[in-house]
Amino acid sequence: MRPLILCLLLCLTTFTQNALASVLAIDYGSEWIKASLMSPGVPFDVLLDRNSKRKIQSTVAWKKEDRLFGGDAFNIAGRFPQDSFSNLKYLIAAPFDSPSVSYYASISTADAVKTSRGTVALRRSDGTEWAVEELIAMQLSYVRELAESTANEKVSDVILTIPPHFTQHERDAVVDAVEVAGMRTLALIHDGTAVAVNYAMTRSFPEQPEYHVIYDAGASSIRATVAGFSAVPGATKRDTATSIAVKGFGFDRNIGGVELDRRLREILINDFNKKHKKDIREDKRGMAKLWKEAGRVKAILSANADATASVESIAWDIDYRSKVSRTQFEDACKDLTLRYAKPIFDALSNAGLTLDNVTSVILTGGASRTPMIQAAVKAAVGESKIALNVNADEAAVLGAALHGAALSRQFKTKDIRVQDITPYDVQVSYQAESKSENAKPRTINTLVFPAGSKHTSKKTFSVRHKDDFVLHVNYKGTPVPGYPTDLLEVHVKGISEAVQNLTEAGAVDPIVKATLAVSESGFVSVPNAVVYGEIKDDTITGKLKGLFGGASSSTETEEETETAARPDPSAANNETAAEKEEKKEKPAPKDTIPLELEVKMPSLAPMTVAEKRTARDRLRAIDLAEGAKRRHEEARNTLEGYLYRVRDLLEEKGETPFRKCSKEQERSALGEKLDETFAWLAEHGEDASTSELIERRSALEKLEYPVVHRYKEIEEFPVALNNSQKWNWSTRLFLTDAKTQLLDTPDESKYTQEELDALERTLKEHEVWLNDVVEKQKRVQMYDDPAVESKELYARAKVLESQLQKLVKKKAPKKKKESSTSTTSSTATTATSAAGGDNTATPGHDEL
Ligand SMILES: *[C@@H]1O[C@H](CO)[C@@H](O)[C@H](O)[C@H]1NC(C)=O
Ligand SMILES: *[C@@H]1O[C@H](CO)[C@@H](O)[C@H](O)[C@H]1NC(C)=O
Ligand SMILES: *[C@@H]1O[C@H](CO)[C@@H](O)[C@H](O)[C@H]1NC(C)=O
Ligand SMILES: *[C@@H]1O[C@H](CO)[C@@H](O)[C@H](O)[C@H]1NC(C)=O
Ligand SMILES: *[C@@H]1O[C@H](CO)[C@@H](O)[C@H](O)[C@H]1NC(C)=O
Repeated sequence: MRPLILCLLLCLTTFTQNALASVLAIDYGSEWIKASLMSPGVPFDVLLDRNSKRKIQSTVAWKKEDRLFGGDAFNIAGRFPQDSFSNLKYLIAAPFDSPSVSYYASISTADAVKTSRGTVALRRSDGTEWAVEELIAMQLSYVRELAESTANEKVSDVILTIPPHFTQHERDAVVDAVEVAGMRTLALIHDGTAVAVNYAMTRSFPEQPEYHVIYDAGASSIRATVAGFSAVPGATKRDTATSIAVKGFGFDRNIGGVELDRRLREILINDFNKKHKKDIREDKRGMAKLWKEAGRVKAILSANADATASVESIAWDIDYRSKVSRTQFEDACKDLTLRYAKPIFDALSNAGLTLDNVTSVILTGGASRTPMIQAAVKAAVGESKIALNVNADEAAVLGAALHGAALSRQFKTKDIRVQDITPYDVQVSYQAESKSENAKPRTINTLVFPAGSKHTSKKTFSVRHKDDFVLHVNYKGTPVPGYPTDLLEVHVKGISEAVQNLTEAGAVDPIVKATLAVSESGFVSVPNAVVYGEIKDDTITGKLKGLFGGASSSTETEEETETAARPDPSAANNETAAEKEEKKEKPAPKDTIPLELEVKMPSLAPMTVAEKRTARDRLRAIDLAEGAKRRHEEARNTLEGYLYRVRDLLEEKGETPFRKCSKEQERSALGEKLDETFAWLAEHGEDASTSELIERRSALEKLEYPVVHRYKEIEEFPVALNNSQKWNWSTRLFLTDAKTQLLDTPDESKYTQEELDALERTLKEHEVWLNDVVEKQKRVQMYDDPAVESKELYARAKVLESQLQKLVKKKAPKKKKESSTSTTSSTATTATSAAGGDNTATPGHDEL
């Protein structure tokens, strides 16, 4: 499966521009995080973590002061049960008093506290509290760092998968976590839809939709998505695009891999308590260890009839061992059997389809491998419908990356058009205008977006109100027990003035028209509201207008809704010919006046800008502290390593290069400093600052450097001298030939007497200097500093070399082209090849 996708992408991922921003896709799960990076020059695949794993345990933990992620974080839960945080997905936008939080308490040893927003924070053993968004942001940040080190550039655009059943509050919290992590949400995509994109990537479909159910059994929930796949006309006449239209969802938020782990752990808890006459629930470490063991045993039972649970020193110094059979486990989950496949039928029923309309049921998600779940689904839909043709772990994140790449418009990918839908009924409510003083206030509820409404759509509805009022946007039912239903509280302002102005302009009975929109990522908003009133206009264009645009004046019923906009923005701006005409002739009568909207989030408000800034600062402070600590440790280790190396140099017996190149007093000074530094490190190493550690090292290096330098120079001198002699020799050879030629055939010579004399003077100077330093160097002892640095030898040789090269490269005078002698060219060739092979500039070369 994967090689095919990769090959396809190599061809598809051709880049349209040079400066491309990478797109990071993250599948943030309750147990595992998967990520994928779409970046120019980086092969498209799942992102590996620091241990080269394709999935990262969804845990952040502290081991005393050190923050850990992934498997490292998960594995220390048994030692630091209050500092290891897993399964945070359950807590996203969960009200502190909701059943989700009680459930979390039954699977976690973490200490939950209430935030000022009424959501959950977790408290570390040292008392510091971290909001769920902050903990998730740390994990997203960790993934961002992995991506940045892979892409070798900053990564800030991210697309995340979420379950389709996420409420608006949960979506808000995810976006907040992304922002706290210093990234930008390109989009949220339902995980089933992401799998559908991955599925469509390598397949083609007929024009009549082909329906598939994507059955996604994850750790915290099971969900099913019905999607229709079809071929539609592409951007140009020759192309076809693939359309994915989501038709329905079904889900169960209370079953999944975690619930199975919990039930397995219950078996172990009861067994332990019975055997040892103690309550393991009282021991957080023991509970955390059993949680990990339950996961391990569950995996074994997926392939075996029984397994042995074994935890050394679980609590009270007891080594716990017990055999668990698959039957025992399945018995404990018996009541769930009928629930596993139910989301499929819910999804079909919401889509208005039956199993017969479905080509296959595609299994994905880690828990889809659990035998009892797979068996239940097979029994419900028939074995022949089951498809295991996507990667159960990675299809969602890869599909999300492809979708993100398409959205970013920076990568050329297969043309796949995705139409997703909303999970819950969304209605607006407001107080009706009282007809008389004494009338009881009447609340009007209007269902604007029933579950299954399309993303990126808008609806406009009319409200008869002459004064400011509050428009509530809320879920019609309770989406999750204990979760709030109200989404937005929109204060519509300035109505009476607008109504008055319009009425004065001749409008009859103006009304308020408000628009409700669902975004690409499933967020519901009220982008605008206006007061509209038809202004009586007796001109011809006015009458025309009445035909085309004035229909809404007949909208009397407040409940009425009408679809206003289509997903295609170009179509949304379409105007009839008459409307255009009218605009050209004279300005349209001002029959709409926009209203001011003040939007509040009544319950479970997302983080405010200030809260997000504070959170970012907190996270950045830890990052900085960790960076400083890392540099401190590095400086300390480097100093320590250096001390041992110098000690070895000093202690080595015999005629070592170090001994030969150093004087007695240098060695003793170094030895003294060494002992002093060793003593200092032992006493102050922990609390010394990083710069002190570095200073100590450079103080020692200052003493060691002259010795090392001498040694290096002794090695380098002959090489440098050889180089100098080479140029000396080449120049001499060149001069001899050139002078001969100038003497024999002065008309044909490329060089003048002056040029050759100048070169000879430089050569002489070089020779004299060279002879002098060679003599001096002979008298220098190894433990003395050299008479001349090899650097200077090279520099002087370079002076000679460039002067020689300038002559060698000189072009022959044009008129005497044909008369170059073979002697000249052969000589010059020798000179050039000795000069390091600059064969493009051989004199006479162009004649040969
Ligand atoms: C679903 O199947 C039924 C019965 O086979 C058929 O009548 C109906 O047209 C199908 N619906 C779609 C959307 O294909
Ligand atoms: C109403 O008309 C007055 C006077 O022309 C103007 O100042 C005001 O801005 C108008 N208000 C609105 C809401 O259009
Ligand atoms: C606008 O609408 C007209 C008539 O419905 C249609 O012919 C035309 O293609 C549309 N233009 C755009 C840009 O959608
Ligand atoms: C000097 O260079 C020559 C030729 O390039 C080489 O044979 C000789 O070994 C070199 N001598 C040293 C000391 O590098
Ligand atoms: C320079 O080269 C000439 C001959 O090519 C040689 O006699 C002389 O000793 C060389 N000088 C040095 C310092 O190597």
